[in-house]
Amino acid sequence: MTTNFSTETVATASVSARPFPTNFLFGAATAAYQIEGAAHEDGRRDSIWDAFSRVPGAVINADNGDVACDHYHRYREDVALMRDLGLQTYRFSTSWSRIRPDGGAINPAGLDFYKRLVDELLDADILPWLTLYHWDLPQALQERGGWAARETADLFTEYALDVHDALGDRVKVWTTLNEPWCSSFLSYTAGIHAPGRFSVAEGMLASHHLLLGHGQVVRELRARDESLNLGITLNLTVAEPVTDAPADLDAARRIDGQFNRWFLDPIFRGSYPADIVEDIRAVDAAAVAEWEGAVSDADLAVISTPIDSLGVNYYHGELVGGTPPAVSPGGGEAPTERETASPFPSHEGIFWHDRGLPRTAMNWEIQPSGLTTLLRRVWDDYAEPAGVTLYVTENGAAFDDIRVDEAGGARVHDAARTAFLEDHLAAILDAADAGVDVRGYFYWSLMDNYEWAWGYAKRFGIVRVEYDTQERVVKDSGARYREIIAARALPE
Ligand code: NOJ
Repeated sequence: MTTNFSTETVATASVSARPFPTNFLFGAATAAYQIEGAAHEDGRRDSIWDAFSRVPGAVINADNGDVACDHYHRYREDVALMRDLGLQTYRFSTSWSRIRPDGGAINPAGLDFYKRLVDELLDADILPWLTLYHWDLPQALQERGGWAARETADLFTEYALDVHDALGDRVKVWTTLNEPWCSSFLSYTAGIHAPGRFSVAEGMLASHHLLLGHGQVVRELRARDESLNLGITLNLTVAEPVTDAPADLDAARRIDGQFNRWFLDPIFRGSYPADIVEDIRAVDAAAVAEWEGAVSDADLAVISTPIDSLGVNYYHGELVGGTPPAVSPGGGEAPTERETASPFPSHEGIFWHDRGLPRTAMNWEIQPSGLTTLLRRVWDDYAEPAGVTLYVTENGAAFDDIRVDEAGGARVHDAARTAFLEDHLAAILDAADAGVDVRGYFYWSLMDNYEWAWGYAKRFGIVRVEYDTQERVVKDSGARYREIIAARALPE
């Protein structure tokens, strides 16, 4: 059952401004491993990211999450900051290796942290938006096969029920998984994320077991409490062909299939996209056979258990073709993750083209209109027919911010991030104008944090973190977000 969150409508929007729907929620997002630190406190044990960050060369500067933003100790101050920004909701994740340090027995001290955090949020009138899995599998479970093993889906379900036992009375919105493409193919096939495996079969199996865990958790939580808002967050993309030539159209089809349909189809339609299965079979028949042995109709029925909301994470679109561009992608800049990774064997023969758009410090192109296109497509093809509402659960940009110390205190004049924020919010309004039921936006991220294989080198926050002192500085983008939230409108 979909929960209708009540939001106060503040009537301060000027006449010429573009107002947001009254049920629209403004928030910001983080994830446990990226901000908490306290990696060895109160019974927490290693997750796959603790282990991976010790592998030489795996993470830039060998950065790790031992301290991160020290949010574990500073959560009160951070919630106060959220309140000061006017956030209505906060999307965070719980750490499996804090709550079930070896993947099995429960650690009450770990759960207590999230009880304190949720209480603090509720006291500040901020809706807690809880994600159960944001990539930090207990290392002990990886040693038993990780997500490539079916058992992990069952243990994930048990862990989710523990978290619900502890927080179900106060948390009403539950996201099962964050970006399962990343925790399967980027992690088990491309080796770029923890656990750094290079296997087509393991990536395929991991994707299936993640989805199975998702479906099982939705079923169990729904059976316990019909009023919960249950969903999943996917990293979706808009792949446009560079021309209408068959090879370019085919490249766009494959990217759409790999990133979007591989996850949307089983969740909404109870089937995997047959064209992509055949693409992979053509280059790795053994991997597909192994995966087929693990997939059953019963699993797909579980995976397609109805959800209430779909979280869309959107950072950039992509222009793809079947032949190489005349110049290297990004105009000769360092290649992006996707340009170097081959998370599917059927990636072969796909080339990324540059359309001259400005780029962020991740070398990701800035294309706000892609968000409108994506929301409209996901709404028309999947969400509306299923009665599912959409939320943009992540969107944001890394830039090389500069801190300046002025008379009034420290400042970060991040005009590019402010424009990014405004332009993507406008893109959401464009989608809403076109009839899409999109009910919220979470900027990624509340604060600078551990950007996985990039370590602390990339800053996405609307709040700057000084890692040596843990000082927080609200950037100009954060101040602008506060104004937009207060007005509940964008200037025309
Ligand atoms: C997606 C992930 O969910 C988040 O953890 C990551 O930091 C951002 N995108 C930026 O790359």
